Amino acid sequence: MATTTWTRRHILSLADFVSEEYNTVLQTAASFQEVLSRRLKKVPSLQGQLVANLFFEPSTRTRSSFELAAKRLSADTLNFAPGTSSLTKGETILDTAKTYLAMGCDMMVIRHKQAGVPQAIADEMDRLDSRVGILNAGDGQHEHPSQGLLDLFTICSLLDPDRPHLELLEGKKIAIVGDILHSRVARSNIWSLTATGAEVHLAGPPTLVPQLFADFGTGRAGRLFLHWTIEPALQDADFVMTLRLQKERMDQNLLPSLREYHQRFGITRERLKLCKPNVKVLHPGPVNRGVEISSDLMDDPEFSLISQQVTSGVAVRMALLYLMGGGKA
Ligand code: NCD
Repeated sequence: MATTTWTRRHILSLADFVSEEYNTVLQTAASFQEVLSRRLKKVPSLQGQLVANLFFEPSTRTRSSFELAAKRLSADTLNFAPGTSSLTKGETILDTAKTYLAMGCDMMVIRHKQAGVPQAIADEMDRLDSRVGILNAGDGQHEHPSQGLLDLFTICSLLDPDRPHLELLEGKKIAIVGDILHSRVARSNIWSLTATGAEVHLAGPPTLVPQLFADFGTGRAGRLFLHWTIEPALQDADFVMTLRLQKERMDQNLLPSLREYHQRFGITRERLKLCKPNVKVLHPGPVNRGVEISSDLMDDPEFSLISQQVTSGVAVRMALLYLMGGGKA
């Protein structure tokens, strides 16, 4: 296990993560990946600690993955379902969080459709001097740090399974294609990938890749490029990350049609010929099959890292809970 002096109580954003923190998460996750390959996939690290999953927005993999991660670390878990909670009786989100605090919660994993909710709960917990750690599991269009970290881990551990670390991405070309505008996953990935020496290329229609994203590259170790056609982003790429078209977040008519989107920006076998021969494709899920990626490509293990991302998610979330819970070598 990596020796660490982890100082972050909350994990809310990757914008200010530093290299040592990324490498600590990657190495700790690699140790847990090994634990998860054993027959007995459980360690006692968080025995006696309580982790609450507060998901105010739908989720399949993130919620299950955090719950499983907490259980594999022997923590007790509570799952909150907004539809059957006192929220329906007018209780505020902060009061819901304080209820879990009063039950002795040590960490809260929070997803909300509004950007800034996990930060607001973290501020309140700090104001109350509670020592509770808050983990952002996706807030509006803002950030999804654990997804950014698991994508980074998936890529780095493909390059070196024994010692995944940031420096492996030096000189690699990574394309992020699709609905960047509405994607918290894209934002967290832009922060993590530009913290390495990689070249990060964003591609999508101008309505979904606005010019303001160019600012994300300022002062970063890696370089960031924007494209409104897909070819220059895919040319010689080592990794292609495609994103779901977030129809629920599109309130204006930002696209002519899904068919046309697929024709112009869909990831297909034909298009991958532009990339490096051993290119790999990532997608955070859930997938609109045949829109952002062709259905057969999604299922092809030669190219697709989608199930590795899900598997890595558990190890990475174990690492985050472990580090926040005060875990050391
Ligand atoms: C993403 C999310 O909810 O932000 N999914 C996930 O957590 N794996 C991406 C999405 O909804 O498209």
